[in-house]
Amino acid sequence: MTVEPRPTAPRPAADRAPERIAESVIGWVDSIAALTTPDDIVWCDGSTREWDELTRLMLARGTVTQLNPEHRPHSFLARSDPNDVARVEDRTFICSERQVDAGPTNNWADPSAMRPTLRRVFAGSMRGRTMYVVPFSMGPLGSPLARLGVQVTDSPYVVTSMAIMTRMGSTALDLIGDDTPWVPAVHSVGAPLGPGDTDVPWPCSDTKYICHFPETLEIWSYGSAYGGNALLAKKAFALRIASVMGRREGWLAEHMLILKVTNPRGRVFHVAAAFPSACGKTNLAMLKPTIPGWTVETIGDDIAWLHPGDDGTLRAINPEAGFFGVAPGTGASTNQTAVDTLWGNTIFTNVALRDDGDVWWEGLTDTPPAHLVDWQGNDWTPASTTPAAHPNSRFTVAAHQCPSIADDWDDPNGVVIDAIIFGGRRATNVPLVVEARDWQHGVFLGATISSEKTAAAEGTVGELRRDPFAMLPFCGYNMADYWAHWLEVGERLGQGGGAPRMFQVNWFRKDADGSFVWPGFGENSRVLEWILDRVDDRLEAVDSAVGLMPARADLNTDGLGDDGGRLGDLEWDALFDVDTASWLAEVAATEEFFDTFDGRVPAALRAQLSELRERLL
Ligand code: GTP
Ligand code: SPV
Ligand code: MN
Repeated sequence: MTVEPRPTAPRPAADRAPERIAESVIGWVDSIAALTTPDDIVWCDGSTREWDELTRLMLARGTVTQLNPEHRPHSFLARSDPNDVARVEDRTFICSERQVDAGPTNNWADPSAMRPTLRRVFAGSMRGRTMYVVPFSMGPLGSPLARLGVQVTDSPYVVTSMAIMTRMGSTALDLIGDDTPWVPAVHSVGAPLGPGDTDVPWPCSDTKYICHFPETLEIWSYGSAYGGNALLAKKAFALRIASVMGRREGWLAEHMLILKVTNPRGRVFHVAAAFPSACGKTNLAMLKPTIPGWTVETIGDDIAWLHPGDDGTLRAINPEAGFFGVAPGTGASTNQTAVDTLWGNTIFTNVALRDDGDVWWEGLTDTPPAHLVDWQGNDWTPASTTPAAHPNSRFTVAAHQCPSIADDWDDPNGVVIDAIIFGGRRATNVPLVVEARDWQHGVFLGATISSEKTAAAEGTVGELRRDPFAMLPFCGYNMADYWAHWLEVGERLGQGGGAPRMFQVNWFRKDADGSFVWPGFGENSRVLEWILDRVDDRLEAVDSAVGLMPARADLNTDGLGDDGGRLGDLEWDALFDVDTASWLAEVAATEEFFDTFDGRVPAALRAQLSELRERLL
C-alpha cells in the first residue's frame, strides 16, 4: 500500500486492485467511491509496511502520539474528540423491512426512509480524504465457521484498529471468489475536507448513524470513529448482522467470552460466558485461578460464534483476533494477565499519558503518578477532580500477545463448549451460582439477565436494566424470535450428552453495608470448579426455586471466611438466600418485560416463568 499525493479525481477501484478481485467487491467499492468521492482509494494488504505508513501518517496528523519505546515499544496513544467516546445506542438502528422484525428492544428505522438519508449524508463525505478498502475474515482464515467482510473507511485509525482486531488484508480478499458471500460495511467519519481546509486530529461529525440492514446484510456507519460505532467487524458485523445470519443458517452469534479450563485430573473443558458490557468478561477470560491444580486459558473476551455440530455438540470460535478492552480497573490485583498483554504493539485510546511517555489509568496502580496529561490533553494531578483516563478508555491489542492465550484459540474447527454461563450485576436476589435444570430453563436464565441500579448511581433502588443474553444493544432482530432460535438450537442438539450445560452466576451480591460479599476475580475459579465438577458428574446439586445450587460442602470456600477458615453462615446466606417476596416481585417484573413483546415470547419461556412462580409459592 502507498499513500500518494492526491490526484484530482477518484480513481476507479480496478486501477489499484490486484488482478483477481471478485467483481462483486470491485463494483461495490466503485459505487461507494462514486457516492463519497474520496481523493484516493487504497486497497489494504495487512502488511507491516502498510502498518508503518499508516502510523506515520497518524503521527503526522496528530491523531496518535508515539509512546516511549523503552516502556511501551511500537505503541500509540490516540485522544478522541470528547464528543466521540463510546457506542451511541440511540443512534444505532436496525433497518428491517418490518418494525416487528427489529422488535421492541431495538431502534427501528424504515429502510425506505433511511436509505435516502444515508445517501444524502454519505454524498461527498470522503472528499479530501483517502478511502481505505479493508478486507477481513471473522474467524480463522478459511475456517468453515468463519465469515468474510469488506469495510471501506476514511479513517486510518480505524484501519489500524481493524488490523489488530480481525484477520485483515490480502489473504482475506483472496478468499472472496465471485460467488463467495461477504458483508459490506461502509464507514465515514463524516468530515469532508475542502481545498485549503485543515484537518483535525480526530475527525468526526455531530450527526451519527450506525445502521444495519438485516435483509441485505449491510452495514452503514457515519460520523464516529470510536469502538463499536466504527470498527464495524465487531458489534455491527459479528453480533448484529451475524445474529441474523446465524438465525438463517442455524447457529448463534453471542456477546460471550470463551475459556479453556483444565482440571487437576487433566480433563479439558471449554466454557462460554455472557455478561453485559463492563461486567467483567475480560477479567474472567484472563482469570488466574487461586485454587491449586486448575489452569485457565483464554480463547476470546467479547464475542463467540456457536455452531451446532452434526455430533450434537456446540462448537465455538472467537471471530475476533484482538481485544478492545476497558482500561480503567485493569491492574495487578484485578487482571495481571491483561497488564502483561499490553507490553507493546498496543493502541491505547483516551488513557492518560505519563511524563516518561508511558500510559496510566485509574486502577493500573494504587498510587497515581504525581503528574499526568489526561485523556483530553490537559495537565492532571492527584488533586484533580476529573478522571485522568476516560471511563470508557480502551486498549487495542492482538489476542496472540496474551500470555494466557490457549493453543486452540484459533482452531479453524472451533472448540466444543461444555458449559454456558450467564452473568449480570445484581446486588440482591441472584445467587452466586445456580445450574439450569435443562436447556429451556437455561434459555430462561439468559433471557432474564439484568443489572440492578443502585441508589448512589442511578436514583431508583431496585430498578432493573434488562439485558437479555447480554445482547440488548447487539441483537439484529426481534429479541423474542432470538429466544425462540436458542430453543430450536437446543432441540437440534438434543438433551443427549453433547449439549453444553447452562449456569447463572453473580459476582456482585452486596451485604447490608453495601460491600461485595464474594471476593471475585481470581476467586471466581472456585465457582468454575463447582460448575465443571457438575459437568464432570462428580457432585450432586441441591434443588431450589431458582435452580440447582451447590451443597455447602461442595463449594470450596477454604480461607475465605473472616477467621481464615471457610465462609460463615452469614456470608453463605448473603450469597445464596432466595427471598420469596423479592423473587415474586422479580417474576412480576419479568412478566411485564415479556408483555412488551406482543405475544411473541415463546410458550416454553412463559411456562418457565409460571413454573418459577409455582416453585416460589
Ligand atoms: P465490554 O468490553 O464492554 O463488553 O466489557 P467486559 O464484560 O469485558 O467488562 P470489563 O472487563 O470492562 O468489566 C470490568 C468491570 O467488572 C470492572 O468494574 C471490574 O471491577 C468488574 N469486575 C470484573 N470481575 C469482577 C469480579 O469478579 N467481582 C467484582 N466485584 N467486580 C468485577
Ligand atoms: C461493549 O460495549 O460491549 C464493547 C465495546 O465491547 S464496543 O466495541 O465499543 O462496543
Ligand atoms: Mn462487549
